[in-house]
Amino acid sequence: MKSNNRKTALVTGANGGLGREISKELIKSGCKIILSCRPGSEGMKFCRSMVSEYGEETVSILEMDLSSLESVRQAALMLKDKEDHLDILINNAGMLGWKPEITPEGYEMHNVVNCLGPVMFTWLIKPLLGKGSRVINTVSVMLRRGKIPVYFPMSPQKFNRFERYACSKLAFTLCSIRMASLWKEEGISVNMVDPGIVNTPIIKLHKWVDPLADIFFRPVIRQAPRGASTTVFLALDPSVEGVSGKLFKDKRPVRFPSDLSAIQSLDSVWSFFLTLDTYGNKQ
Ligand SMILES: NC(=O)c1ccc[n+]([C@@H]2O[C@H](COP(=O)([O-])OP(=O)(O)OC[C@H]3O[C@@H](n4cnc5c(N)ncnc54)[C@H](OP(=O)(O)O)[C@@H]3O)[C@@H](O)[C@H]2O)c1
Repeated sequence: MKSNNRKTALVTGANGGLGREISKELIKSGCKIILSCRPGSEGMKFCRSMVSEYGEETVSILEMDLSSLESVRQAALMLKDKEDHLDILINNAGMLGWKPEITPEGYEMHNVVNCLGPVMFTWLIKPLLGKGSRVINTVSVMLRRGKIPVYFPMSPQKFNRFERYACSKLAFTLCSIRMASLWKEEGISVNMVDPGIVNTPIIKLHKWVDPLADIFFRPVIRQAPRGASTTVFLALDPSVEGVSGKLFKDKRPVRFPSDLSAIQSLDSVWSFFLTLDTYGNKQ
């Protein structure tokens, strides 16, 4: 049962370029907000400063490292312990790595942080979602270049950061479509957002060209408030009540890739997800 009329929202990657904007906009709109950040990270400083600024009645913190499925499970348990419902879940955290990395559970890093971690978190906290709850998953235009490898979530030996990022965002899109269809009857919406190319830390190339990009590229591309605006729209706007399973950009639904082979990969990604230990939360 809701204790008052304030909406409760959770934002992952709350300390990131887009996460900060989204969180501040949701607070401005009157939401009670849970900021999720990596444990012990620099981001925790930001979260604590938000608690001091807006007060514990409005802001709380949930530590979660999306690269560890165990951390995701613990965070979900902690959240279910503290909260009785969630109106808005924004799976915003994401990474674009620059070297091959494997997670503690042995999977390719992008596929866990950008897909399996947030999908597992959403799945585990489903008991907090109900009619009217909105889940917003942050993907990217890069999903259109994604291919799901045969041994998902492992990737081919050769490391290409953009391929791995694209694969993880496509996999996240496919899982979002599946959750949207599973939960539609219950009135829980699951939509995806492509924020565009935005001036935030994630777009760093880790190459000599970065200082030049800082001067000539970053100032002219989309800035964080505009990048965050479609997410905030999907979280709050009455016009999207009941809309689910759609990909949005600039506050409008856009088409999914028409490549059927990608859509056919949905079953392989989802079947893998179901093999993970979700503490009996089969739904
Ligand atoms: N900026 C763009 O051009 C663009 C374009 C398309 C899509 N996106 C997507 O937009 C979302 C937000 O990115 P952004 O642009 O705001 O980039 P950002 O400033 O780099 O923020 C990324 C956020 O994700 C968090 N994160 C990374 N790895 C994590 C992990 N293992 N566990 C928990 N949190 C983790 C980061 O936390 P730390 O600070 O601790 O690393 C940070 O808060 C991402 O999903 C990204 O893929 C961005």
